[in-house]
Amino acid sequence: SARIVRTVAELRAVLAPRRADGVGFVPTMGALHEGHLSLLRAARNANGTVVLSIFVNPTQFGEAADLNAYPRTEAADVALAAEAGVDVVFAPSVAEMYPNGFATTVSVGGAITGTLEGAERGRSHFDGVATVVAKLLLAVQPDRAYFGAKDAQQVVVVRRMVADLGIPVEIVTRPTSRDTDGLARSSRNTRLSPDDRAIAAAIPRALRAAQDAFARGIHEPQSLTNTVRAELDGLDPEYVEIVDADSLDPIDEVERPALLALAVRVGPVRLIDNVVLTPG
Ligand code: PAJ
Repeated sequence: SARIVRTVAELRAVLAPRRADGVGFVPTMGALHEGHLSLLRAARNANGTVVLSIFVNPTQFGEAADLNAYPRTEAADVALAAEAGVDVVFAPSVAEMYPNGFATTVSVGGAITGTLEGAERGRSHFDGVATVVAKLLLAVQPDRAYFGAKDAQQVVVVRRMVADLGIPVEIVTRPTSRDTDGLARSSRNTRLSPDDRAIAAAIPRALRAAQDAFARGIHEPQSLTNTVRAELDGLDPEYVEIVDADSLDPIDEVERPALLALAVRVGPVRLIDNVVLTPG
């Protein structure tokens, strides 16, 4: 069974004798689903010790309502973690992560945080992500940390931060896990009504339609994003954009791997999804 620790001091003590065979780390905000489990399996396969963190990080949320509505299911998460072979669950309190007087922010600048989610939610979202991921990486000091391609921009931001700060960790990206209707798994999906859920299934269909058009030789971003919008069946996306997959800069034509990303509100939930378009 998995050991639950609440403090960084305890975490360090538990990990100290277990570092020789590699430490793999999967940071999450809990409400675990198959997407998280796929990261845990990848970590389990490549490391002697697997650490899962569960921390609903207040500094990366915009609206307080979204933070308050975020699902919290720790007991079920710990059971799933044990099943997945997790050795240590790090589940700190907000006060442990952000004690009184906390005053430091890790802020990744430039285009990679200004576009897509950064443009919609504001840069403070990625400041919150970068700061908490930096703190978690320093607390766990893993050999490898695992992130999902579903949050493509988050991966770009984390890779930039790790390179810039010289944090000695290998960042591993794993593919987006999808439900049978194609919808990307997300902790927020539990807040979709059955009707919303059926409507949301247009999202993966729209991305698939753009991939098909791309495969037929259509490489202009505008034409591909129009295809997505047309297939979204009346949903009004916050953005649908195609950018360079590494720099997240705008592009005129898909000549190297490009990220097709969108955000759309369905009922009470804001959903994001993406695919990578890779020229043949
Ligand atoms: P959370 O949304 O819980 O996601 C934790 C990890 O699981 C992230 O790397 C995310 O990309 C990945 N993930 C979520 N849904 C996935 C899916 N359908 N398929 C594959 N991977 C998926 O992302 C966060 O938490 C936070 O921002 C965090 C990095 C923990 C910092 O607070």
